[in-house]
Amino acid sequence: MSDSNKALESLLEEKRLFPPPEDFKKAALATADLYEKGKESEAFWADMASELHWFKPWDEVLEWKLPFAKWFINGKINASYNCIDRFISSPTRDKVAIMWEGEPGDERTLTYLDLYREVNKLANALKHLGIKRGDRVTIYMPMIPEIVVAMLACTRIGAPHSVVFGGFSAEALRGRINDAGAKALITADGGYRRGKVIPLKQAADEILKDTPTIESVVVVRRVGDALKTTMKEGRDYWYHDAVNAAEEYCEPEQMDAEDMLFLLYSSGTTGKPKGVVHTTGGYLTGVYATFKYIFDYKPGDIFWCTADIGWITGHSYIVYGPLLNGATQVMYEGAPDYPDRGRWWRIVEKYSVSILYSTPTSIRSFMKWGTKWLEERNLSSLRLLGTVGEPINPEAWVWYYKYVGNEKCPIVDTWWQTETGQIMITPLPGVTVCKPGSATHPFPGTEVEVVDEQGNPVKPGGSGYLVITKPWPAMLRTLYKDEKRYRETYWSKFPGKYLTSDGAKLDEDGYFWILGRVDDIIKVAGHRLSTMEIESALVDHHAVAEAAVIGISHEIKGEAVAAFVILKEGFKGTPEMQQELKMHARKKIGPIAEPETIIFVSEVPKTRSGKIMRRLLRDIATGRALGDISTLSEPGVIAELKKRYESEERE
Ligand code: WT7
Repeated sequence: MSDSNKALESLLEEKRLFPPPEDFKKAALATADLYEKGKESEAFWADMASELHWFKPWDEVLEWKLPFAKWFINGKINASYNCIDRFISSPTRDKVAIMWEGEPGDERTLTYLDLYREVNKLANALKHLGIKRGDRVTIYMPMIPEIVVAMLACTRIGAPHSVVFGGFSAEALRGRINDAGAKALITADGGYRRGKVIPLKQAADEILKDTPTIESVVVVRRVGDALKTTMKEGRDYWYHDAVNAAEEYCEPEQMDAEDMLFLLYSSGTTGKPKGVVHTTGGYLTGVYATFKYIFDYKPGDIFWCTADIGWITGHSYIVYGPLLNGATQVMYEGAPDYPDRGRWWRIVEKYSVSILYSTPTSIRSFMKWGTKWLEERNLSSLRLLGTVGEPINPEAWVWYYKYVGNEKCPIVDTWWQTETGQIMITPLPGVTVCKPGSATHPFPGTEVEVVDEQGNPVKPGGSGYLVITKPWPAMLRTLYKDEKRYRETYWSKFPGKYLTSDGAKLDEDGYFWILGRVDDIIKVAGHRLSTMEIESALVDHHAVAEAAVIGISHEIKGEAVAAFVILKEGFKGTPEMQQELKMHARKKIGPIAEPETIIFVSEVPKTRSGKIMRRLLRDIATGRALGDISTLSEPGVIAELKKRYESEERE
């Protein structure tokens, strides 16, 4: 368990209770009886599903052939139809779906009708380019409305999308395109981040010669003359040309509930990212219901999720959850501290945001930046706050409650994963008495346990592995083209129970406290990174013989990357080399993978079977007392490591 989690564990002493404010409680959509209803989980989820539009109803709610679940058997449904067409014949057609703000300050507003028109046209344009039902389409875009249009257009024609976070490098994009065997790429010339233009099409051009399955590339013009974008005849098309030339209406495909809706790559414990497969009917049901009840969305609310659509949070709670609920939301392209640290609060004030969903890392940054930025703004429109991505320390929770929520907004600390698709552990905002730092209880209709090494549930007060004991509608169905890895990763440790790879504690009152990952995945600013993935990136550098990567505690980011590196003969561990290796990790994966610290060593501690002893490295990196080292093959290395690290620290 990482250092930051240990710090969190010591804060489990936190005893304050925060009941929901009375007026919130009175008007809340979710009441305590939702837990009662959830006990009949199949009937509960069937009820939720029946609020969506189905071309053909399902015959059976759930088929559970461990570890493979099928939900809403033989039901026929379309995601884009449910997100937009459903509202076109009601007054919601003129309701604003997205109030978008670009980082430079440009603005756009799209109603449900605007979305409908744009999605239909792009869907036709994609068909025209030869994209058919079942073909995968990779999307590599900044946070502009067209990314939402692109995803919905894919779902309209039954082409699963695979969104690759725009902050990932060209090489990371290549791997994901090739694994998916994508037929088309939808991208943009560039986007804005902290005042800089980030090229995307140019980055894609670097690798498009090595992506044999890509037949066409659709490019949104976002930054225009700020970049020189070259278009390859017969392969590359401007988005606006393609859309302008397209027919107005595209019949939505009637998809089977179990047809793949999208693929999303996420870091696993090996160097190769996993293609997490989500299907249509169950996923839509899961995110529809959780958005509605956890965010208590009512007409008139303005929702803002600050995540990037390149992560699951954006898929579920910017694209599908809000649109399935006919919500109005804010979408923002850029950084929270551009042009200054007041940007987010200006957005909250300007658009009267009432529900804000953000991360512990951002909250800790704001804490550090001081309350001045908030005090300058009128934040009285806020009525509910949310957090996700990593454990939230009670101090940050209380700060969020006090300074952002003005002590009147409940906070929903939502635990879930790319694999779960939907929020799994969370307060119900009008029901749950919150404890800062605890994600509280499983959402109705789901079942979660904390188990010991043998797989037996721990008693209240105990800690262990967090597992999910019952299938839920938005669960991943498999890993793309890797059923074996799916079985091994999630279903092999405890038969019949889904392994989350998080550690957790169940307290005396039955509250769940998430303690963080127990595998080789680290969470840097809430972003999921695999230590092996970064090690492979470093070893790919010509000067590196071996590398061992760990997560170390970081005041703002929760965890940061520290790398122990053995150089090949003839190379020196200079500051220039450190810099070069940092840049190399950025190039291979992306800026989020850049090590905070690089320590050159002559050996890394390994067990006799050759496994890197990360725990020991963490102890060294954090200067803690060393634990049991009896399994170390060459005990002499520790002394050296410790010495090197300490001198590194002093510099
Ligand atoms: C991992 C999943 C799901 C949205 C974003 C992350 C950690 C997530 C919480 C929370 C403590 C959390 C877990 C989990 N995590 N939410 N509220 N409290 N930890 O998705 O990238 O798939 O990461 O994020 O460690 O396993 P992801």
